[in-house]
Amino acid sequence: MSDNLPNNAIGGKSFTAVAINCAAKAGEWIQSKLGTITQLDTKYSMHDLVTEVDKGSERMIRNLVGTHFPHHAFLGEEGVEPGPEASAKAIRDMGDEEYLWIVDPVDGTTNFVHGFPFFSVSIALAHRGQVIVGVVYDPSRDELFVAERGKGAYVHGRSMRVSQELTLGQSLIATGFPAEQHVALPANLKGIQALAPKVRNLRMGGSAALHLAYVAAGRLSGFWEYNLSAWDIAAGALLVEEAGGRLSDVAGEPYHLGVRNVAASNGHVHDELVEELRKASLT
Ligand code: IPD
Ligand code: CA
Ligand code: CA
Repeated sequence: MSDNLPNNAIGGKSFTAVAINCAAKAGEWIQSKLGTITQLDTKYSMHDLVTEVDKGSERMIRNLVGTHFPHHAFLGEEGVEPGPEASAKAIRDMGDEEYLWIVDPVDGTTNFVHGFPFFSVSIALAHRGQVIVGVVYDPSRDELFVAERGKGAYVHGRSMRVSQELTLGQSLIATGFPAEQHVALPANLKGIQALAPKVRNLRMGGSAALHLAYVAAGRLSGFWEYNLSAWDIAAGALLVEEAGGRLSDVAGEPYHLGVRNVAASNGHVHDELVEELRKASLT
């Protein structure tokens, strides 16, 4: 770890060890609840689902983090009012905290509810606005993706690197359907229309955090999505950066915790991806 980064522990367990422990425990519990959902609520729109499992997972993570680091701030999706304005405000208000845990307790709730095995737990720790630890756990495949700033990115202990494709034409790119239907969905549909003919293929798996982990692991060449929240992106952002990839907003501006329209890639295809999205936004 370089000198200007904080010590990776406060008198005990390391930040990364706690993040891993939280993700593994919550993920195991989520998996045990698969297929048991009886009560389904919606939040911001009919596309924005929430279950007792989302809330229980967040409680579990919040309690565990609080046990080890009682003075750290905590931002979890289920603790914030639904909708893009509230989630944008939450990160504006808390983004500069000395230590801030940013948690999506189930990323891919729709998949979880339908038993489609592509969902994750996403946990990031930011230090004064900069993500220093990122963990994404996929309980269906028992895959744990971990990054520490300056120390690389790993899946099950194996070092991860982004893929080598040099052009969009060789690329497998992912995106997602946002819960917000007025601005983000039309923007995304334009992007899909523009990119589908230009890439090798498109994927929409349904978990933004896992899509970012897959970019880091070299399984996807890139990913973009409009109107995500800090908890969808923060952990995956560090995974991508530490695996040698590139991350920005869809206009190519550097990533920070407030970015909602995100583009991630292996680096080689980034400019091409951003340019196609820019042209699509003008149509
Ligand atoms: C959603 C997932 C999905 C993305 C949506 C997100 P949630 O998160 O990441 O892939 O397309 O925009 O809201 O609601 O399942 O935590
Ligand atoms: Ca999410
Ligand atoms: Ca969620």
